[in-house]
Amino acid sequence: MDLNAIMFQGTILLLLFSWCTNAADSITQSQTISEGRTLVSADGSFELGFFSPGSSTNRYLGIWYKNIPIKTVVWVANRRNPIKDLSGVLMINNTSNLVLLSQNTTSIVWYANSTKQASNPIVQLLDSGNLVIRDGNDGNSGNYLWQSFDFPIDTLLPGMKLGWDLKSGLVRTLLAWKNWDDPSPGDFTWRMELHENPEAVMWKGSEEYYRSGPWNGLRFSGAPELRPNPVFKFNFVSNENEAYYEYHTLDKSVISRMVMNQTNYSRQRFIWIEADSTWSLYAYVPRDNCDSYNLCGPYGNCIIGGSPICQCLKGFQPKSQQTWNPMNWSQGCVRRTQLSCQDIRGGSGCAIWYGNLIDIRQLSAGGQDLYVRMAASELGEAKDEQKTRVIVIVIVAVAAALISGMLLIAYLICKSRKKFRGNVTFYVLQKTYCHIV
Ligand SMILES: *[C@@H]1O[C@H](CO)[C@@H](O)[C@H](O)[C@H]1NC(C)=O
Ligand SMILES: *[C@@H]1O[C@H](CO)[C@@H](O)[C@H](O)[C@H]1NC(C)=O
Ligand SMILES: *[C@@H]1O[C@H](CO)[C@@H](O)[C@H](O)[C@H]1NC(C)=O
Ligand SMILES: *[C@@H]1O[C@H](CO)[C@@H](O)[C@H](O)[C@H]1NC(C)=O
Ligand SMILES: *[C@@H]1O[C@H](CO)[C@@H](O)[C@H](O)[C@H]1NC(C)=O
Ligand SMILES: *[C@@H]1O[C@H](CO)[C@@H](O)[C@H](O)[C@H]1NC(C)=O
Ligand SMILES: *[C@@H]1O[C@H](CO)[C@@H](O)[C@H](O)[C@H]1NC(C)=O
Repeated sequence: MDLNAIMFQGTILLLLFSWCTNAADSITQSQTISEGRTLVSADGSFELGFFSPGSSTNRYLGIWYKNIPIKTVVWVANRRNPIKDLSGVLMINNTSNLVLLSQNTTSIVWYANSTKQASNPIVQLLDSGNLVIRDGNDGNSGNYLWQSFDFPIDTLLPGMKLGWDLKSGLVRTLLAWKNWDDPSPGDFTWRMELHENPEAVMWKGSEEYYRSGPWNGLRFSGAPELRPNPVFKFNFVSNENEAYYEYHTLDKSVISRMVMNQTNYSRQRFIWIEADSTWSLYAYVPRDNCDSYNLCGPYGNCIIGGSPICQCLKGFQPKSQQTWNPMNWSQGCVRRTQLSCQDIRGGSGCAIWYGNLIDIRQLSAGGQDLYVRMAASELGEAKDEQKTRVIVIVIVAVAAALISGMLLIAYLICKSRKKFRGNVTFYVLQKTYCHIV
């Protein structure tokens, strides 16, 4: 027998085996998933079935990695409504809704909130970990009537979107488990906030907790460790239809997940290391004190290793010396010299901030330039820094006639910085202060 024949027989055996063990990846109207039965995605990556988290005896319908010995649940259907016994049944009911029932199918525990019903519904677990409902009569198997990726729990898998479908109003948010025994929503959230520059923000209860800064075309400006790399591709989309963040693994064999971890209130990115059989922590935020929301107040610059950690930008001074000194920086800094002109609106290619700037931090590498508009009388001091790779734009900010000129200059700078594909933002400050719009 040659190798091909052996492999062929092996494949047949494998197919028979998976058929015998009911390892199907989908159900149709007449089929159910009950205790002891699971769906397995076609390539064997993910499994859907009933489980009990931690030391709890409650039953939940969830999705986890099939081939990872440490049971890692990435999605839960009935996170708010546990089943107290082994009576759970997942099925497509007579009106083509995907429902999770209990108590001898008399009680509805959870249902998939699809907007449209299929005439020939198929519920399928995809290799991406996405549970989808599609219509078997629809020639395009990529048309989903519902998908679990639209209703994330605490985990962002490759290809999942964090953010908004602005047309339907669907918002995909991550909400950490209450604790590892209870997947119901805790108080630790990550969501996309729709400002002029949409921004992903983490909340601890009702307190803003961490922001990675706006998207600069390649990554979030406050997360230089996520610059383009051979492992991940990051994607941020913001247009009139959608505003979301997603990531992909460039090598399909890399297994990675991002999780909102309530244990120590961090968002962690893990990679599965097969050889060690462990999840390796690839990155996490917040990383340090400087990542805390509004630590240094308006116009305060956070410098890890600095003493004190918060320092006013040049040309600014503590708003209240009294509170600044005892290391409460939340009031931030104010201009030493007030501006004698109004803010100017407009510009293109750059992100422009009006009002108070908060959450500025100095990065040792990978930052970007921040230009702070100053009163002309403060300019003398900054002259020395002209030599340090900085473009200083001197603006005598008095005459209104000059304002249009400044706009032009700003526009030209922004244009010349197109390599950032727009959205040049704050977050840098490598000894660089310029004075501009
Ligand atoms: C199917 O489930 C949906 C969602 O729970 C429900 O509204 C509908 O009445 C159910 N249909 C039948 C025939 O039970
Ligand atoms: C669905 O409809 C069939 C036939 O009308 C009926 O026998 C069955 O009990 C129904 N199932 C549910 C869950 O309502
Ligand atoms: C479940 O319901 C069916 C039909 O109503 C009934 O015959 C059966 O005894 C019930 N089983 C249990 C365990 O209650
Ligand atoms: C189902 O969707 C509708 C419309 O999008 C929404 O108003 C409703 O709250 C949803 N129900 C659940 C249980 O998610
Ligand atoms: C949550 O974080 C803790 C501390 O870093 C870690 O030990 C644990 O494995 C994490 N949990 C998950 C599910 O990643
Ligand atoms: C969370 O846990 C990780 C790993 O143990 C640690 O490095 C990180 O500093 C912790 N984060 C917070 C906010 O405590
Ligand atoms: C810092 O000062 C502000 C008022 O300036 C006050 O509201 C806040 O509680 C203080 N924070 C701490 C940690 O003392």
